[in-house]
Amino acid sequence: MKILSMPVMKETDMPSDRKNIFDPHENDPFYSEAMRGLRAKVEHRIDAAGFRALGVTSAVAGEGKTKIAIQLAVNVASTGRKRVLLMDLDLRKSDIAREMRIGATPGLSEYLSGSVSREEIIRITSTRGLFLIPAGKPGSFPVDMLAGEKFRSFLKELRGHFDLLILDTPPILPVPDALTISEQLDAFILVFRLSYTPHKFFRQAVDELGTGKIMGVVLNGDEKKSDNYYHKYYGKYYQVAHTEGKRS
Ligand SMILES: Nc1ncnc2c1ncn2[C@@H]1O[C@H](COP(=O)(O)OP(=O)(O)O)[C@@H](O)[C@H]1O
Ligand SMILES: [Mg+2]
Repeated sequence: MKILSMPVMKETDMPSDRKNIFDPHENDPFYSEAMRGLRAKVEHRIDAAGFRALGVTSAVAGEGKTKIAIQLAVNVASTGRKRVLLMDLDLRKSDIAREMRIGATPGLSEYLSGSVSREEIIRITSTRGLFLIPAGKPGSFPVDMLAGEKFRSFLKELRGHFDLLILDTPPILPVPDALTISEQLDAFILVFRLSYTPHKFFRQAVDELGTGKIMGVVLNGDEKKSDNYYHKYYGKYYQVAHTEGKRS
């Protein structure tokens, strides 16, 4: 299991109504740099293993799944090498459409309940090569929807149309949704938020998911290291990345 850490974002760097999450220069340079590292590792791994459908999950809510799923999708699509589909499978707490300022309905739940066609739910985003399927209106039985044959065949179809599917799933411990679809996905990225999630919850999530299915763990909210730390270990590389991140 590979481990990668994401630093704490500065308060002012978090998305607000005035900020556009697609503008990498508006982000915290430490966070952007860590995200580029995550993107490179994920791409390397999926290319080597031939993975196409990745879930992003965590033990409990609020660990940063949605943030990481969005940023990873934007970063992979931005390289221009892959057509990426980001899909919100958190039918109970669907945040992606709002974060990306794209209409929340119709979405997956409308498609699965048969009221719209699949063409109506695939949105084009402002990032070239990145498409989005929002969760739609929360249905009464999200697990049944995700466990059904319609979702299974839809996912198969999508694999044929995109190079990478990134699926933002609900947390593992409170609800069975992620485990329900686990067998249909190639691998999961497990997000663990430091100083937030009790370790025993994390261990329980790893047990439930099974280590074989976990491609890597993202330690979210890691301590930001001082400039000296980066200079010592990264030297010039750090200087370049830091300056790039600051450019506006
Ligand atoms: N590395 C981080 N540093 C600071 N805040 C973060 C970080 N990652 C996520 N957040 C914030 O934490 C909250 C929960 O993140 P979110 O991605 O919605 O979690 P989840 O999807 O796991 O419930 C959001 O307000 C998000 O902006
Ligand atoms: Mg979320």
